[in-house]
Amino acid sequence: MPIKTLAVIGGGTMGSGIALIAATNAINAIVVDISDSQLEGAKVYHTKQLDRAVSKERMTQEEADVAQTRLSYVALMSEASDADWVVEAATENVEIKKSIFSQMSETFRDDVVLATNTSSISITDLASSVPEAAHRVIGMHFFNPVPVMKLVEVIRGKETSEETTAATIALSEAMGKIPIPANDSAGFISNRVLMPMINEAFHAWTDGVAEPEDIDSIMKLGCAFPMGPLRLADYIGLDVCRDIMMVMYRGLGEDPKYLPNEKLINLVEQGQLGDKSGRGVYKYDKE
Ligand code: CAA
Repeated sequence: MPIKTLAVIGGGTMGSGIALIAATNAINAIVVDISDSQLEGAKVYHTKQLDRAVSKERMTQEEADVAQTRLSYVALMSEASDADWVVEAATENVEIKKSIFSQMSETFRDDVVLATNTSSISITDLASSVPEAAHRVIGMHFFNPVPVMKLVEVIRGKETSEETTAATIALSEAMGKIPIPANDSAGFISNRVLMPMINEAFHAWTDGVAEPEDIDSIMKLGCAFPMGPLRLADYIGLDVCRDIMMVMYRGLGEDPKYLPNEKLINLVEQGQLGDKSGRGVYKYDKE
């Protein structure tokens, strides 16, 4: 069944990106967030991105206007209950996600896929919060910035049905993405590989091997990364990096190699979270 309307739970960076690519690919998107400022931020982001697409002649003004009309913003999940698909993109915290999943299973029709944009948490564990709907639960992991990054990592839980998986692949493609499967193991593939590299960059910095600028330049110029690992950590959010590392530490046999570097933990505790707080490893102009 073609998906006409997608509900996105969470209007932060990932949620607003997912909603935008739905709208630019002929799918209505309803952003649900209890925070007015998150909803306002999502709206501003959408307008800015659509204006930019027009100014770059990637879209006509008319197409941008149509995409804008496909986007809506609501505070209550019940206001999105007619959606044909729901993607949860809330904080990377298992208890928060489980409570949202319970609400999703009560709110949406019982043929609606309940997808999560989690970057590390077990899909089987999340599905355990909605036992009757477990076959409709799946990981649909997008990457930041969503409009630019081509990948959707698709993660099946123990009970995810073939039908749910096939529909997720079809929807990812309809949104212009390339879906690739990974098994349900903490951090899946992307973060299992990425986060130890970011952590090691922090270790190299705190061991005095090089300063952040040089670590990042070395990895950019020597390994063709678009951003060095410390710059990327700020971009992802240092709190998000820490949380993902802890999910991997707990989920992969408490192997100390996944424990976040102390400097990373300290920066988070001081509220230096990266781009979003104006300061992380580097300083940023918030504008
Ligand atoms: N939304 C939409 N488009 C954006 C964007 C955003 N937030 N940020 C950048 N872009 C677009 C720009 O508009 C620009 O498009 P045009 O060329 O068409 O004008 C294009 O991306 C390139 O942007 P810039 O010229 O401003 O800057 P850049 O060349 O340095 O690229 C970047 C910026 C795309 C972010 C690039 O640095 C990059 O690819 N960085 C790595 C990002 C990455 O690794 N992401 C994955 C993070 S891990 C994750 O998300 C998952 C997780 O679980 C933690």
